[in-house]
Amino acid sequence: METTRRTLLAAFIAAPLAPLSGVAAAAQGTPALPLTRACDDDNAATVEREPGPFFKPNAPLNRDLFADSPRGERITVAGFVVDDRCGPLPGSLVEVWHADENGHYDEQGFRLRGHQFADERGRWWFNTVVPALYPGRTRHFHFKVQRPGGRVLTTQLFFPGEPRNAHDRLFDHSLLMNISDTGDGRFARFDFVV
Ligand SMILES: [Fe+2]
Repeated sequence: METTRRTLLAAFIAAPLAPLSGVAAAAQGTPALPLTRACDDDNAATVEREPGPFFKPNAPLNRDLFADSPRGERITVAGFVVDDRCGPLPGSLVEVWHADENGHYDEQGFRLRGHQFADERGRWWFNTVVPALYPGRTRHFHFKVQRPGGRVLTTQLFFPGEPRNAHDRLFDHSLLMNISDTGDGRFARFDFVV
């Protein structure tokens, strides 16, 4: 069977979170899903990055953004929100905004902008398009993440293998997504530690 964004998302949703439930997962015979970054050391929290000039408040509750830019290359971005002991944070706000396939942000409306709340196991995902480069920046998504009642983490996520990563002053290796190519686009994974 061909690997698609949907099959990888289904696998992501089916797999338990490894550090939290490794014992339980082994008992169930289900392969555990490792976090993209260790959350059990002293510097676990996801690195912050500036929001930049294109953030707009009040983006809609929407995880399916692909229709906003139907000519773009599809990508599903998924992950957990966890605390610094790897515990999932259900109900966390996860908001994304990013450039379209031509490197433009929608400053009039809310194309390629949306938020959601992590599910009962701290999971979130967006179906969207791969943002193009725009002058002065390497390829990136903008995110805001807020655990219930907590402070807002503002950051940016980056793509592996981008030549301009090395020249971007906001780039950080710890903010690289794990990306798989699939039969119908890409599947990216990143876990926020807040
Ligand atoms: Fe940006």
